[in-house]
Formats: sequence, structure tokens, C-alpha cells
Amino acid sequence: MAIIIDGKATAQKIRAEITSEVKQLVTEGMQPGLAVVLVGDNPASKVYVTMKEKACCDVGIFSDEYTLPADTGENELLSLIDRLNNDEKIHGILVQLPLPKHINEAKVLEAISPAKDVDGFHPYNVGRLVLGKPTFRPCTPYGIMVLLKEYGIDLTGKEVVIVGRSNIVGKPVAFMCLQQHATVTICHTRTVDLPAKIGMADILIAAAGRPEVIRGEWIKEGAVVIDVGVNRIAEKKLVGDVEFETAARRASHITPVPGGVGPMTITMLLQNTLLSAKMSLAKKQTGQEEPS
Ligand code: GUN
Repeated sequence: MAIIIDGKATAQKIRAEITSEVKQLVTEGMQPGLAVVLVGDNPASKVYVTMKEKACCDVGIFSDEYTLPADTGENELLSLIDRLNNDEKIHGILVQLPLPKHINEAKVLEAISPAKDVDGFHPYNVGRLVLGKPTFRPCTPYGIMVLLKEYGIDLTGKEVVIVGRSNIVGKPVAFMCLQQHATVTICHTRTVDLPAKIGMADILIAAAGRPEVIRGEWIKEGAVVIDVGVNRIAEKKLVGDVEFETAARRASHITPVPGGVGPMTITMLLQNTLLSAKMSLAKKQTGQEEPS
């Protein structure tokens, strides 16, 4: 039976560290601030936004929510972002995705100042990630990398197979694994013979967004299974992208759903917001020192 990777416990530990760092920063006159922007009334987005705000409050980060109606114009959203880019109290700006169809998502993400892009979605930060330079890392992939490190899983020379090619998870996690010296394969809906590809994986990262599409029997004995899927199949039943029971019998390590990758995503958002506030303070201090 596989070791269960406990995302909840890891997230709690990191949040405790963030809480004390925020406290320290506040004594230096800097409270980290996050602006959360929600357009429309997608029920899942509403839940995520509420969770993000509660998490901020729990660690002492100031959060400001902007809830805009579904028919908000693109220009109105862009001018809010412009205001937030220039707001000194705000160190991170998060625009919850997906946006309503009439709004150009790429244009909105590009409007966020790269220095406040705590989601790591701005092309500038995506480019830096691809180049292996320090940057804001997208929160879910960042959380996955922290979990792997926490459980002592070294990626050097390993076959990492990713299922899903989204800009939020699949693509960025591929570059993070590459940076850790893995050999990376990205699979998607047009991939031929998915079971064979999955069978090669020392580390499988499932981010397909389809309930239990990955069968346990496809997984190599001793593989590490990271399941990013959060699929609601009944009123109170969430499942991942991987068939948990059969996969857990073959894997060396596996993340549960819920309680695996999920709790890490918001934790890394807090981490990025803290980092942004620290960089802003450092800039202010060096700026103030310049005249002397
Ligand atoms: N929608 C789904 N995941 C995310 C995320 O990590 N950030 C934002 N802004 N929207 C999302």
C-alpha cells in the first residue's frame, strides 16, 4: 500500500511559517495585501475565492475582494486592474479564472503588473519560468513541487509523465520538473496510447480534469502518483483523475482527493503574496537609502 502524501498537514506547516513571517513583516511596517477579483457567479469560483480570503485572514494577510457582475465590460475590469497595480497596499492581484466569454482572458492577465502577478500567469513570469529564472510560480504546480520535496522524492533522471496541457497546471509543472532534471512527457486528449505512456512514469502528474480516467492498472509498480483532479461525481463525493484504490496498491506514494494537492494551491498563493510584499519592502528600503 502506498504512502499517502498528506497535503493538508504540509499546507498547515507552511501556513504556520507564513503566519510568523507576516507577523515579523508587520512589525517592520509592512502588511502583505492581496486583491481577489471575481467576475460573474460561477459557483466553484465563488467557493475558491471565499477559501482564498479566509486563508489570507488566517495568516494575517490583508485581502480585498472585488466581486463584479457577469456583464462587466473588459475595459472596466482593465481599469480596476490598473488601479490595483498602482495601489501601495496591494502586493498581489488575483483574477479568478475562468472569466466570462466576452472578456479576453489573455489581455486581462497581461494587464496585471508582473511584480504583483502572484498567480504566475503573466507572459513575463511564464517566460522566466521557462528560462529557469526566479519568478512567481503558478500555485498548483508550485504546491506539487513542494510536496515532492517534502516527501524526499528526487526528480533527477526520473520519467515524469503529465496528463493535461493547461496553462495553469500541465505546462508550468512540466518546466518545473525539467528544472529539477526530470525527463518530461506531456500527454493530452490527442495522445496515442495513453496507458503505455503512463506505464513509463516514475512520477505521474494527473491534471486531466476528468473523473478517474486514469486506471490504477496502467501505473508502474512503485511510481509516485500526484492527482490534481477535483471532480464532483455526486452531491458530497469528490474524486480525482486517477482511480485511487487500485492506484494506491501499485504506487509508492499517492496524493488523496481531497487532502492532497488541493490545500497546497492556496498555501502557495499566500507564499507568493508574502514574497511580493517582502520584495516591495526591500525595494522601498533600498530606494530610501539611495539619497544618502
Ligand atoms: N482557476 C482555477 N485555478 C486557478 C488559479 O490557480 N488561479 C486563478 N486565478 N484562477 C484559477
